[in-house]
This record gives sequence, structure tokens and C-alpha cells, in this order.
Amino acid sequence: MAQESGLYPLLFFFLLFLSSLCDCHLHPEAVNRAVSNQTGRRESHIVEEIAGYADVAKKIIDLAVSGAAQNRSYTRLADFTDTIGNRVSGSQNLDMAIKYMYNAMTQDGLDVHLEPVKIPHWVRGKESAEMIAPRAKNLAILGLGSSVGTPPEGIEAEVLVVKSFEELKRRASEAVGRIVVFNQPFVSYGETVAYREYGASEAAKVGAVATLIRSVTPFSINSPHTGWQDYQDGVKHIPTACITIEDAELMWRMAQRGLKIVVRLTMGAKTLPDADSFNTVAEIKGWQHPEQVVLLSGHLDSWDVGQGAMDDGGGAIISWEALSLIKELGLRPRRTLRAVLWSAEEQGGVGAQQYYDLHKVNMSNFDIVMESDMGTFAPVALQFAGSDAARKVMEEVVKLLAPINTTKLETHGEGTDISPWLQAGVPGASLHVADSRYFWFHHSEGDTMTVQDPRDMDLCSALWAVVAYVVADLQDMLPR
Ligand SMILES: *[C@@H]1O[C@H](CO)[C@@H](O)[C@H](O)[C@H]1NC(C)=O
Ligand SMILES: *[C@@H]1O[C@H](CO)[C@@H](O)[C@H](O)[C@H]1NC(C)=O
Ligand SMILES: *[C@@H]1O[C@H](CO)[C@@H](O)[C@H](O)[C@H]1NC(C)=O
Ligand SMILES: *[C@@H]1O[C@H](CO)[C@@H](O)[C@H](O)[C@H]1NC(C)=O
Ligand SMILES: [Zn+2]
Repeated sequence: MAQESGLYPLLFFFLLFLSSLCDCHLHPEAVNRAVSNQTGRRESHIVEEIAGYADVAKKIIDLAVSGAAQNRSYTRLADFTDTIGNRVSGSQNLDMAIKYMYNAMTQDGLDVHLEPVKIPHWVRGKESAEMIAPRAKNLAILGLGSSVGTPPEGIEAEVLVVKSFEELKRRASEAVGRIVVFNQPFVSYGETVAYREYGASEAAKVGAVATLIRSVTPFSINSPHTGWQDYQDGVKHIPTACITIEDAELMWRMAQRGLKIVVRLTMGAKTLPDADSFNTVAEIKGWQHPEQVVLLSGHLDSWDVGQGAMDDGGGAIISWEALSLIKELGLRPRRTLRAVLWSAEEQGGVGAQQYYDLHKVNMSNFDIVMESDMGTFAPVALQFAGSDAARKVMEEVVKLLAPINTTKLETHGEGTDISPWLQAGVPGASLHVADSRYFWFHHSEGDTMTVQDPRDMDLCSALWAVVAYVVADLQDMLPR
């Protein structure tokens, strides 16, 4: 029978043992029935268990949205970003930001500690670009993270304007000794960012001396947007910067008319040895299973322009605020709530990868990992990645968000900093906000407090806190 059924061997042997006591006969179907009935009972039990959190969810929401904590996420974010400013990996500002958050979260009564990490240290230096022919015009630029600089006197060269990698390949012979300008249209961030990431190496392969890349944004008021770029191994490192949509289109139109365009690019960028930094961790220890963890997170570093309010000051602050709200209500869940403010996300999730490498030994104790890094505008839904069984549980959890109208559970939980955990099969969640303007401001001087709204942030914090608290307090961890 065991060989025939092949199912649920442990349960089967247990039932066999029982049957030996009661002298009844067990068929494989009976075993299956018993198992599916048990599953059914567990499911109806979990629905009731989670519905039992309606009152506490309402308390958290009221505190955040209309109670004593109203506007607090915004106020905290404004104080933080106005005081520190932007916080690029390796900078003194990032060190100050970590100290600031360590002190603020400690004063808030949370258990705070720092975990050392090594992070990239790229510095922009002075930079400028000007069109010399067919007429003189300054070009607004932002050098890209990890780019090399130019010689001190700059690089002056004729320009080749292309709209795609495919066009660059076709016109490879024209690229030799030129500055390649990419004027690719914005399709989506995920797709179009390939030009920022790989444009320099693709142009270097065909002999270009530098690249200027149209900023990866759907909207512009002559605003350049920076970001990380990746040199390919074995390909010459050439200087690379983003220009504005306006200037990319201008040069493309001029090229269409057959005009000769000459640009002088000067960049003082350089990469220094890796710097010492920290992931900042704040906790409320679980009363029953302190070793089991619900992790919520955002990144503390930003680019070296604007204030890093939206990317990702907001995500960091609501992860702190969620713990604050829970603590203020005198709540303490069964499992540990852990807010992690990552270091060096913008350089490719560098701090988060080191956290994963260190802590993956305890993988089975990570209940869910959450990340907010798409802005903290009006929340629309929770995005979730996990098994069907876990999704059933999460569908009940988001019903508790009825008071703020965000009861939708979507697929595609994601985030650079939590992706190693998701790939390893740990359930993950991310915040979906009404983000139509996110890439207008992303990685630019426009990422300031002016794009943030106090009420939207209250709603984000309420959602984040309810989900984290309830998952951390359920009888069982989420099924894998
Ligand atoms: C579940 O168990 C009940 C008896 O408790 C039985 O009547 C029912 O048929 C079982 N359901 C399934 C799906 O096996
Ligand atoms: C929150 O800000 C709004 C204006 O944005 C204001 O009307 C309200 O009084 C503030 N609430 C608190 C508690 O400060
Ligand atoms: C793993 O979990 C155990 C038990 O909670 C803890 O003592 C240990 O410090 C953890 N290790 C890491 C690297 O987090
Ligand atoms: C939720 O939707 C209802 C009905 O549309 C509305 O009255 C209420 O103000 C909304 N609540 C929030 C927090 O947006
Ligand atoms: Zn970010």
C-alpha cells in the first residue's frame, strides 16, 4: 500500500500505526481524504484566524491615518532628508544618514543595531558638456555611476546619433572615434534602462570614445537622470553620462538634416576603494518565536542628486514607521519584526546581498521579506510572490485593509534588495503605489520632498504595518 499510494509517507505510516491499534482497514483513498479534509480544516481555520485581526488592523490604520501618528511618516522623512540631503554609496552623507536613523529609531524605543558591509565608492567630480558645432549650447548632463572620467582637458569629438543598439550595429563603421549619442525612446523603465546600463560597452565595442545617453524617463523639463551602469569585462571603459530628452532629440534632428555635430565632454568621475558602511536594523522581538522573522525594508542610500526622498527615503521611513505604530499600540507579535534599511542598493543591491550571504543560514526562519522601493505615493495593492498556499493566506491578510481600500493582492512581489530571498523560495511582498510619476523624478534633482504627500505616506505606513504585524503574529509561518 505504501508503494501504491506513494503519498504523504509520514502521515500514512502514522495512520497505519493507528489502524494497527483499531484493527480497521485503510485504503489509499481514505488517506487522501483524510489529508484533504485536514487541509480544508486548516484553510477555514486560517480564514477565521485572520478575520480575528480586524479590530487590531483598524487600530493600526486609525493611529496612522487619523490618530496621533497622522502625517508622521512625512514629517520624519522631511526632517531626515532636509537634514542629511542625498546619500550616495561611500559618501559622508550616507554615514550621517545611518547615524541619524540609528539614533532616531533608538529614541523611538526600538532595538537597533548596525551590520557592517563593504560598498562601492564612486565620486562624480566636476562634469560638463557643451555642443560646439553646429552651434554653441550647454548640455545638461549627469555622469553615470561607475563611469570613468575624461582626461582633464575633456574629450572633443564628432557625434553619431542612434536610436537603438540595432542601429549602432548597422552603423558600426561610423562610430569609430565618435561620441555616440543614444536617443532611444522610453518604452518602460525595465526595458529602456538597458541603454543606460550597457550603452557605454556597446559603443566602446565599435570604437566610440564616449557615450551620451538619453535619460531613462517618460517626462522631462531638461532634467538629466543618473543611475548605475555596467562595463562589460574585456571591453574598454569609456566615459558615459546621461543627457536630457530635449538635447537627445535636438541632436537627433540635427543629424537627420546632415549637420556635423561636435561635443566636448569633461568628467572628473573616479572610483575609490570600497568603503565601510552598514545595514541599519531595528527590531521588535517576537514573544513566542524570536528567531523567526518578518522583514520589512527600504534602502537608505540614494543618488547624489536631489534629496532621495522618493527613492528610497519613503520606503525606509515607512519600514521604521510600521514598527513605531505597532510599538505605540503596545503590540508585540509572536515573531520578530525587523526593519532593515539597506546600504548601497543603487549600486546593485550591494548591502542586501551581503545581508543575504550572512543570514541565509537561517533561511527557514524568514517568514516573509518585504521591500518598498517604487515610491510611497497612494498605495494601490500589495504585490506578493510565494506558493499558492501562501497566497491564500495573504489574500485573507489584505482583506484587513478594507478601511483604506487596498484589499488587492497582486502577483510579482519584487525588489532588488529582497530578490535573493525570493529566488531561494522565501515568500516576498512589495508595495504597489499609484506610481505614474515615479520615473519623472527618479535619480534626478527632482527627487525631493515636494513630490511626497503626507496622507499618501500615512496610508503606505498603515498598509505596511498591518501586513507585517498580522503575518508575524499568525499561529503558523507562511507555507513555502
Ligand atoms: C471529510 O470528512 C467527513 C467526515 O468527517 C466526510 O463526510 C467527508 O466526505 C470528508 N470529505 C472528503 C473530501 O473526503
Ligand atoms: C496633517 O496635515 C494636514 C494637512 O496636510 C493637516 O490638516 C492636519 O491637521 C495634520 N495633522 C496633524 C495631526 O498634524
Ligand atoms: C541564526 O539564528 C540563530 C537562532 O536565532 C541565531 O542565534 C544566529 O545568530 C543567527 N545567525 C545569523 C547569521 O543571523
Ligand atoms: C475608501 O473608499 C470609500 C468608498 O469609495 C471612501 O468613502 C473612503 O473615503 C475611502 N477610504 C480611504 C482611506 O481612501
Ligand atoms: Zn531605489
